[in-house]
Amino acid sequence: MPRTNMSATAEIQAKHAKYVLSPWLAQGGLVAPVIARGEGSYLFDADGKKYLDFGSGLIAVNLGHGHPKVVAAIQEQASLLGYAAPSLFHDKRALLGEELSAMSPWAGGEGCRTFFTTAGADANDDAVRIARAVTGRTKVLSAYRSFHGSSGTSIMLTGEDRRWGGEPGPPSIMRFFAPYPYRSPFHATSPAEETSRAIEHLERILMHEDPKRVAAILIEPVVGSNGVIVYPDGYLPALRALTEKHGIILIADEVMTGFGRTGPAFASQKFGVVPDMLTFAKGVTSAYLPLGGVLVREKIASTFDARALPCGHTYSGHPMCVAAGLATVRAYKEEKVFERGAALEGVLRAGLANIAEKHRTVGEARGTGAFFALELVKDRATKEPLVPWHGDGPGVMKNLYVELRKRGVYTFGKFNCVMVAPPLTATKAEVEEGLGALDDALTAFEAAL
Ligand SMILES: Cc1ncc(COP(=O)(O)O)c(C=O)c1O
Repeated sequence: MPRTNMSATAEIQAKHAKYVLSPWLAQGGLVAPVIARGEGSYLFDADGKKYLDFGSGLIAVNLGHGHPKVVAAIQEQASLLGYAAPSLFHDKRALLGEELSAMSPWAGGEGCRTFFTTAGADANDDAVRIARAVTGRTKVLSAYRSFHGSSGTSIMLTGEDRRWGGEPGPPSIMRFFAPYPYRSPFHATSPAEETSRAIEHLERILMHEDPKRVAAILIEPVVGSNGVIVYPDGYLPALRALTEKHGIILIADEVMTGFGRTGPAFASQKFGVVPDMLTFAKGVTSAYLPLGGVLVREKIASTFDARALPCGHTYSGHPMCVAAGLATVRAYKEEKVFERGAALEGVLRAGLANIAEKHRTVGEARGTGAFFALELVKDRATKEPLVPWHGDGPGVMKNLYVELRKRGVYTFGKFNCVMVAPPLTATKAEVEEGLGALDDALTAFEAAL
């Protein structure tokens, strides 16, 4: 490796530490590779070292890096029109709206209209605002152990420690416990019991909050950054039935699960629920440009034909971003990317089960589609987490990520959970390479515990 390049890397790392604040982290002592380029399933740092992107960025780069059709669409749009006010009409915005309606849970029926945002957080804020406008109610419920974003409302909808720094937030947001089969909050001994007790718990909360005052319930159909928790069969349909009974709007937060991550376009489709609204971001452009939005079923969207929609942003449906989104969703279809992602499920499930068997710190390997996580424990019998929930003071988990990077693999996680979610375009051989590195990294990590 040329010395000059090494010192250029060190210089950028020093400038990063001096001039940039990195999200959610204590800033002192942060060291990360300087990423210069991406191609397919790989990232390359400034010194040419290759990393398999085993977390698809932040579970977002579903199409892999540097897809030529998306790159070309961005270049073409940049030369045509960089910006136009969102109240003006734009071809790619209309065409992307059409594509999203065709892949939505309402496809073939009433369809939907899209309100475009810049990211997932503002999509959740706006979905809640629309739900309040439509119902005339104020209260909103979300689950503990969820992440919904870092903006005004979405941070308060978030059911984990990242919310605490945002408090006090807007009122009228309450939280409930959703199923977590590995650590049942309901002391359940079977998936069916977990579902029925979770619904009973939610019914009780609704009774105490008055369901007639509840505008919406917002839920990730599969819990994402809090450890890829797949709800037991029947939970989401039962939640749908409960919301319908009380006229409560059900919002599926598919920011992480959308665009083939669990198999079909949206996880709601996989788990048999038709929500009233669905929020998305990340995979819509494979994260190449920032774009999010709310899919609003036609029945609700049409209520705004005669009155103003209560939300708007300078960058709503930004031409560059919708051009990237349109090229991305077309590539998903043309190259059968969701099907390719779904085909990785077997490789991931078997490989991670093998890793779980070999390693004493793996309490559970779980997931669906191309969306998995390992939950690490001190003791498999007691299930004591390897690091406490909110409190990896000494930074134990960081050592695993360092071991992975040494072996040319990047991923991320939260608390004692490690994400395993390659781009949906990854090959079987690439996934096997990542699993091999994870196995070796865990061996080194455990030896140093
Ligand atoms: C389920 C979920 N909702 C919302 C968000 C927030 O999205 P963004 O970071 O684009 O604001 C995230 C981000 O990770 C997420 O995973």
